[in-house]
Amino acid sequence: MCSLTSLTSFIFQSPLLMSRAFFFFALSTLWAGLPYQVLSKHAGVTRHYQFDIKLQNVTRLCQTKSIVTVNGQFPGPRIIAREGDRLLIKVVNHVQYNVTIHWHGIRQLRSGWADGPAYITQCPIQTGQSYLYNFTVSGQRGTLFWHAHISWLRATLYGPIVILPRKHVPYPFPQPFTEVPIVFGEWWKADTETIINQAMQSGGAPNISDAYTINGLPGPLYNCSSKDVFKLKVKPGKTYLLRLINAALNDELFFRIANHSLTVVEADAAYVKPFKTDTVLITPGQTTNVLLRAMPRAPNATFVMAAHPYATGPAAFDNTTVTGFLEYERPKSLKAKSRKLPLLRPKLPKFNDTAYSMKFNRKIRSLASAKFPAKVPQKVDRRFFFTVSLGLRPCPENQTCQGPNNTKLAASVNNVSFVLPNTALLQAHFFNKSKGVYTPDFPSNPPIKFNYTGTPPKNIMVTSGTKVVALPFNTSVELVMQDTSVIGAESHPLHLHGFNFFVMAQGIGNFDPKNDPAEFNLVDPAERNTVGVPSGGWVAIRFLADNPGVWFMHCHLEVHTSWGLKMAWVVTDGKGRKQKLPPPPSDLPKC
Ligand code: C2O
Ligand code: CU
Repeated sequence: MCSLTSLTSFIFQSPLLMSRAFFFFALSTLWAGLPYQVLSKHAGVTRHYQFDIKLQNVTRLCQTKSIVTVNGQFPGPRIIAREGDRLLIKVVNHVQYNVTIHWHGIRQLRSGWADGPAYITQCPIQTGQSYLYNFTVSGQRGTLFWHAHISWLRATLYGPIVILPRKHVPYPFPQPFTEVPIVFGEWWKADTETIINQAMQSGGAPNISDAYTINGLPGPLYNCSSKDVFKLKVKPGKTYLLRLINAALNDELFFRIANHSLTVVEADAAYVKPFKTDTVLITPGQTTNVLLRAMPRAPNATFVMAAHPYATGPAAFDNTTVTGFLEYERPKSLKAKSRKLPLLRPKLPKFNDTAYSMKFNRKIRSLASAKFPAKVPQKVDRRFFFTVSLGLRPCPENQTCQGPNNTKLAASVNNVSFVLPNTALLQAHFFNKSKGVYTPDFPSNPPIKFNYTGTPPKNIMVTSGTKVVALPFNTSVELVMQDTSVIGAESHPLHLHGFNFFVMAQGIGNFDPKNDPAEFNLVDPAERNTVGVPSGGWVAIRFLADNPGVWFMHCHLEVHTSWGLKMAWVVTDGKGRKQKLPPPPSDLPKC
């Protein structure tokens, strides 16, 4: 595969070539999807991309299906920018589905109109329509990703976002020889829109996936997949930066490379204190940069990189393993022998290894250096306690449902299963037309107290509604998220749009408001956009609501989001000129 260095050198080329690229772009649609840039007055540059959403036939596991793609590519094209750059991405919808794209982890400071979740910040882009996403990358560098944010279209609509430091600013770790995105995905032989639509109808659980993928390839452990394997070729002695992205829909993953350890240097586009590990845990929605040091001399082996799920819930899960190969470049004289090199396989933790998960997450600490301080809110204005939970909803009359005892499966936050409105919340908020769209009465605490991780209450029916929490600009928020054992304890990777938060502490069992806050890390907590609420446990986070807009928060297991494990925060404008959300762009899609 093409290395990132060669790609970046294409983009960061001389001004002369840049303007030539610009010229060609203007002339020819052949350049669609390729970036070009224009120098601007700002510290950063403006980079333009075009995303044509179209169908493409793709064959995996001996079956061909038509999938929704960006520019016919699977996985989708990578977006590359430097910190401080502006991105203008024109998304043109040529398929029969409604589409939106979310730039997962991008702060979207005062650019909420470009965030992308359907019916939260925008109405979807309808067939034949387009929308120009316009935002600036500020205060972030590292790996993020983009994905569709409507229904289950992100099953095939996703790709990396690479944010390099500003020009001439080095990484706070040794400069790698090459950078390689490693994007994990999840593959279904059947059509994923049909799967989720039928499951929502019947109330049962949607079918599990048939394979996991690395950069779109399942690898040789699956039937009829021996040629579809991702290969990473390395030179002995060199250091590689692997940009790990979990774009899978429903599964957290353990990842390991045989006989090699990895050094974690960044998580969710924030630098961390480097630490060594054999296995990385990465939830859907998380990104992790790791350094891989190739052995000093080419060994007589091929090393398998593998990922399989970390799964704790009550439901069936895809228990297969995706593999790729780490191959060493060998001197010509040894090439003939290379073909028969033995394959070494790594040992991954067991599927439900929560102890490993807790241990791994505790190692992630902000770099918290002079250059990259951890701006942990030290005081708290508002405290929230949210249960995140599975549950049930009644079966509509004259229907039979496939959930337990003729019900429909559901999921909730503080027992509210969120219902998407028919218009975008952000529009309703901005134009003061919230009536009939949403109410600002999302509960700050669970409606009923119970032993959350003990025996569940008899009535596990959820309520539903489009409720939000309203926060004045610059509110400092502390939020404890508590898993419950309703239907079954399960790890939930919660994702917050519009902010990074700090992971103050996590624990097993019920959160203890008397004793647990003493354990909060006020110095170097991990700064992230997605955190796993431990299975049968809790996590406490803090964030500063310094970004006006409407910000979605949801479980990044897509099946739980579909069932309603989602809510939104409305952050009002501040007084200052730079504390207000500008009006929407004129091409904002209509519902
Ligand atoms: Cu990556 Cu709201 O999602
Ligand atoms: Cu979940």
